[in-house]
Amino acid sequence: MTPPPSAPADAPADAAVPKASDIIIDCDPGIDDAIAILLAAACPEQVRIAALTATHGNVGLDLTARNARKVLTLAGRPEVPVHAGCPRPLTAPVHDAAHIHGGNGLGGIDLPDGEGGIAEGHGVDALIAEARHDRTLVAVGPLTNVAVTLIKQPQTAARWRRLVIMGGGVEKGNVTPQAEFNIFTDPEAARTVLTTTEWPAESRPVLFPLDATHQALLSPEWISDLAGSGGTVCRTAAAMLGGYDTPSTAARGGKAVHDAMAVAWTIRPELFETRSARVEVITDSGAARGRTVADFASTEPTADIVTGVDAPAFIDWLKERLMSLDAARSDG
Ligand code: RIB
Ligand code: CA
Repeated sequence: MTPPPSAPADAPADAAVPKASDIIIDCDPGIDDAIAILLAAACPEQVRIAALTATHGNVGLDLTARNARKVLTLAGRPEVPVHAGCPRPLTAPVHDAAHIHGGNGLGGIDLPDGEGGIAEGHGVDALIAEARHDRTLVAVGPLTNVAVTLIKQPQTAARWRRLVIMGGGVEKGNVTPQAEFNIFTDPEAARTVLTTTEWPAESRPVLFPLDATHQALLSPEWISDLAGSGGTVCRTAAAMLGGYDTPSTAARGGKAVHDAMAVAWTIRPELFETRSARVEVITDSGAARGRTVADFASTEPTADIVTGVDAPAFIDWLKERLMSLDAARSDG
């Protein structure tokens, strides 16, 4: 029996619906990061956003941290702290995706700054302090913060309920034919996170590669319907998605909100299928740099890779949840 949507995937089938479980999102907003944050905020019965940690990535850290703050204000969650993490990769040169997400990281849409600034304390120290057995860490940017967390305090890995990563590609890349942006931007960090022996076997990282996130694309009609649904959140989300340039899926007529799917796993894991695999990250300077190699036949798997997505259910649910945020706001 599939656990009820709000129960964690590993809850016994007859478990009473537990209180909302805590998540921390390590992110680089980023338009799909913004949609992911909005989705988490739209499911208060299932998840509580304990904190956001910002990383360099789509745009520079100063912008990703400010954007995280802005999206939380839009979501009606100004109380959630945002900690700034690492401003650059471990050793790789800085690499961004401003050509995809716009120079301001949010498709050129100017959101109000809103309340609250950037919290005291480095994002890595927040990840160490906030690691708890009932908390899931959702990493949807380059993995520098997570890697430095594991280097600074390796036992943190065993303290998270689960790590869910948006990154990689089994048969796909979007920066090179073989490498996905979050991994390519800091391959050494990704290798540190995905090959450490500190993750408990029963709660190894869940990995959302492009092979999964490209299964559910938002069509122009979907985005237009969202814009017309009447509320500030939906209009703003649609405007950001309009500024989201996604050449890797343009030929298929849609846009992938990669990061929102990683958050969705913490709320409705039944929408996804996973297969265990051993994952290696290529860190040499050749054409395959940043590639994730998955061995699904390994008897010593290191990740549960998402291979299947109930795309229609995810896409319909996403719109319904974004509209619920407007229903909850006074300005509609
Ligand atoms: O390759 C897609 C990923 O890179 C997403 O997380 C997007 O926000 C960027 O960070
Ligand atoms: Ca991201």
